[in-house]
Amino acid sequence: ATTLGASAAASGRYFGTAVAAYKLSDSTYSGILNREFNSVTPENEMKWDATEPTQGQFSYGSADQIVARAKSIGAKVRGHALAWHSQQPGWAQNLSGTALRSAMLNHVTQVATHYKGQIDSWDVVNEAFADGSSGARRDSNLQRTGNDWIEAAFRAARAADPAAKLCYNDYNTDGQNAKSNAVFAMVQDFKSRGVPIDCVGFQSHFNAQSPLPSDYQANLQRFANLGVDVQITELDIEGSGAAQATSFAAATRACLAVTRCNGITVWGIRDSDSWRASGTPLLFDGSGNKKAAYESVLAALNGG
Ligand code: G3I
Repeated sequence: ATTLGASAAASGRYFGTAVAAYKLSDSTYSGILNREFNSVTPENEMKWDATEPTQGQFSYGSADQIVARAKSIGAKVRGHALAWHSQQPGWAQNLSGTALRSAMLNHVTQVATHYKGQIDSWDVVNEAFADGSSGARRDSNLQRTGNDWIEAAFRAARAADPAAKLCYNDYNTDGQNAKSNAVFAMVQDFKSRGVPIDCVGFQSHFNAQSPLPSDYQANLQRFANLGVDVQITELDIEGSGAAQATSFAAATRACLAVTRCNGITVWGIRDSDSWRASGTPLLFDGSGNKKAAYESVLAALNGG
């Protein structure tokens, strides 16, 4: 096939992108989105600060715009993210203990209920493990409410939207290391105790300091072997030209080689849309032209 989405769909997968609601009126941006992608992830619009700026008062306008666009182009939606230590509204940052736990669970319930039936996969919990060799949970206000906050969030999400796949999502877990081992142990524990978890998201933000790991596919596969789906959720790769194209193709092939890898999401459309302050980590240049990395991903999706 001739687009990313249609090519991924040939093997039952999706190819998605992060989307910013305020860019939907940009015709170059929208044209590429509508043509190439069959999954979208709101880049910021479903986060806690955006959806519940005041406690108990929910604001879904920007996120609803993205969901409406997804519907109109036949794309799935990845919901991102119900519970996260970052991008919390000020009022939540000032809570702790049972008040914070209740507020978090109410947030998960309300947002998952608002989008019930419209979300393919939810990032229920994002980035809850520490970097480095400790294998520990990340210290955060949510973690300080008790180690069971993650499973409590997953149970609340399942109760609110039983049809959505529920994912745990993190970065620096793309290869086998202390952090991914800790996530692996959590997933194993959740499966053994019947805590509802369906998928693990691997953000896959790669650069010179943190390149595509050589054991990327093996790592995806070991999680899949636990009985969860795996998804590449925020892919971007610093660099340019043939080297960047080669890495993007390798990441794509890794997903295709894992039966339970549902799809790939890149974290933005054009280089100028990237969260990275500088650099060229995406598939389209700032003018919306296809880069070598685009061609290599398309070829890989089509079996090349
Ligand atoms: O909306 C405000 C605007 O009102 C204000 O004037 C402006 C001034 O700074 O900030 C705007 O908010 C910014 C927001 O993006 C929307 O553009 C925030 O400052 C900025 O911090 C925020 O950055 C986002 C970042 O998450 C926050 O943690 C990036 O767009 C987004 O790409 C990035 O995405 C994360 C994933 O959610 C989780 N994994 C890592 C990934 C990359 O950091």
